[in-house]
Amino acid sequence: MPQITFITEDGTRRVVNAPLGDSILDIAQDNNIDIEGTCEGSMACSTCHVIVDKNWYRKLEEASEDEEDMLDLAFGLTRTSRLGFQIVITEELDGLKVSLPKETRNVLCD
Ligand code: FES
Repeated sequence: MPQITFITEDGTRRVVNAPLGDSILDIAQDNNIDIEGTCEGSMACSTCHVIVDKNWYRKLEEASEDEEDMLDLAFGLTRTSRLGFQIVITEELDGLKVSLPKETRNVLCD
């Protein structure tokens, strides 16, 4: 099974199993990694914002316009930011590294 690495806000690395077809959001929630995921992947918030390692970023499919719009609302946006629910694990993503942003903004509550 593929594995991916989460790098938390304090720099801790967690390597976890990443079942094919699961999203980064699913995998984080299954492993008690602190990604809020308020709208559960309905593209209505930006609380599943992750920062993808730049070597991996270019291997991902491009973000849609809707995803870009939602990312614009995220705190700590970077050039390799994505919404975690939009990244779905394939064999090619075995070894993927993503960092959690320092803060998230919940547009449903703010
Ligand atoms: S959980 Fe709301 S867009 Fe990711």
